[in-house]
Amino acid sequence: MADTKTTKPSRYSVPGLSEEAGTKAAVLLQDRLNALTDLHLTLKHVHWNVVGPHFVAVHEMLDPQVDAVREMADDVAERIATLGGSAVGTPGALVKARTWDDYSLGRAGAIEHLGALDLVYSGVIEDHRAGIEEAGELDPVTEDLLTTQSGQLELFHWFVRAHLENAGGELSTAGASSEREAADAAEAGAGQSI
Ligand SMILES: [Fe+2]
Repeated sequence: MADTKTTKPSRYSVPGLSEEAGTKAAVLLQDRLNALTDLHLTLKHVHWNVVGPHFVAVHEMLDPQVDAVREMADDVAERIATLGGSAVGTPGALVKARTWDDYSLGRAGAIEHLGALDLVYSGVIEDHRAGIEEAGELDPVTEDLLTTQSGQLELFHWFVRAHLENAGGELSTAGASSEREAADAAEAGAGQSI
């Protein structure tokens, strides 16, 4: 059976935008949709698996982020449709298309999850910024959508990082290249500041 769940070229676009530019913007947005869907599922996974003395603070901090990121995914998907494209939202297609690994921590302490989430947010925000650059060549409305979302993602990233920062303004996760490494560094950093 033919795979129908791939981003298809637009048959039309919004007035004033070529079909080619509309298709390119939709392809770019599909990757952002995958990242945002992955992110809100990951944040919920952390909400369920966080343990330890800071459980309530982190458990409750994450739900508004889940809701906001889910809303961002909806806005991106509807922009794809507005541009004449077809938004792909199935889990199998997401896993097939994504270029990053699944979140690697299961049940773990709050500070470990926050260390790992620092890396998760960094990845999404860097790619959103690259998306803003690319969208700037194609469609200002898409550029504006990604710019607005980046501001909110960066704010959530700060909420996470504030737990990992010492009074000197240094992040315990600096230089970590994997979620596990960041989780361990965050835990070691928290031990030092007590
Ligand atoms: Fe819940």
